[in-house]
Amino acid sequence: MEDSIKSQIVEAKRQLRRDKDRLRTAFHELDDAMKAEADKIQATVAAGRPCIPELDYAAIRNGAVSDDTRAEIRQRGAVVIRGVFERARTEDWNEELSNYITENGYYEKEVEKRGLDKYFSGLASGRPQIFGIYWSKPQVMIRQSETMADTKRFLNRLWQVDGPGGQEFDPDNDYTYADRTRRREPGDKTLGLSPHMDSGSYERWTDPAFQKIYQSVFAGDWRSYDPWNASQRTKTKEFPSPAVCSMFRTFQGWTGLTPQGPNDGTLQLVPIANGIAYMLLRALQDDVFEDDLCGALPGRALGASREWHPSLMEGLVSIPTVEPGDTVWWHPDIIHAVEDEHHGAGYSNVVYVGASPRCEKNAVYARLQAQAFLEGRSAPDFAPEDYEIDFNGRATLDDLTDLGRAQMGL
Ligand SMILES: [Fe+2]
Repeated sequence: MEDSIKSQIVEAKRQLRRDKDRLRTAFHELDDAMKAEADKIQATVAAGRPCIPELDYAAIRNGAVSDDTRAEIRQRGAVVIRGVFERARTEDWNEELSNYITENGYYEKEVEKRGLDKYFSGLASGRPQIFGIYWSKPQVMIRQSETMADTKRFLNRLWQVDGPGGQEFDPDNDYTYADRTRRREPGDKTLGLSPHMDSGSYERWTDPAFQKIYQSVFAGDWRSYDPWNASQRTKTKEFPSPAVCSMFRTFQGWTGLTPQGPNDGTLQLVPIANGIAYMLLRALQDDVFEDDLCGALPGRALGASREWHPSLMEGLVSIPTVEPGDTVWWHPDIIHAVEDEHHGAGYSNVVYVGASPRCEKNAVYARLQAQAFLEGRSAPDFAPEDYEIDFNGRATLDDLTDLGRAQMGL
């Protein structure tokens, strides 16, 4: 780690740790609260009940989501919204995306780009599982669909967006964030991701906007911290890196293209919305070195571990089985992981689509992204592999609806 970042960390910790006794007491209380929360989650799993809230898209469309369900989503920081797309239509998209990838020679090009001298080795693990594909028609159709727009409005409105300086973001309109697609084959062992959160690592302690967001936690008053208060959320400055999302997302998420559930090499979550408070206070305890934040590194995801965060890790659970057209969503401060091995029988495929509402931060990125779309290049946050420049069947301006154009800032 660069010395300048180390000194930022030392300085931030010096300021944040003025009242060490208070932070120690607060952390112990929080540790007990998180253990109780994790126990509740595991008891729910043991009883065979869903520990991640679920609802049907129809309830959103009909304005029939209960306050209890909203409260539960705010508590868990995650939700499965089923039936955003019809199953048959989603299965067609899955097929179409597969054809787009193979007919345009993605696998051969991928081997060339890796500099390998032979066609993929025949081992399942030699083939890519995440594709640098952003502009296939199925992805564009999913992003610009009206049902997806309704879903995002519902999610954005779980946040409290009005602050003293006006709205932090527009909950009813969004910019698209073009992301990749995962197509994970049975038996794959290459794609596991250890528990982490995205959208900021050491910045969560050092950046002035993050310090305001987590003000009450840093003051030891973690009970007053509200994960859903949007104030300052679009003002944070992240360390630039290909692993970091340049847009503010109210929720990360994906749309399932195939059925997938526990042991199918898919998503796990620690569904505790204020778990971030534990991560923040843990790093400010006496047993962590002055230039260390429990291993937080610039430009990388913020890792959670059994070593530093055992009470939170007890709450790690797999998502329930989802069907084609169902969607999964989690707050940007939720710890998540991808199972190491795919033990299931079918592909587990998803299209990543998060909720990225209109705000100045997202407008800046949307302008760069629109240019990449028009030229068929990779989206600007990602490695410039530019696979799709000469792909047949790529989505173009003509494929965008009015909503789709607005979402692209075009
Ligand atoms: Fe992630």
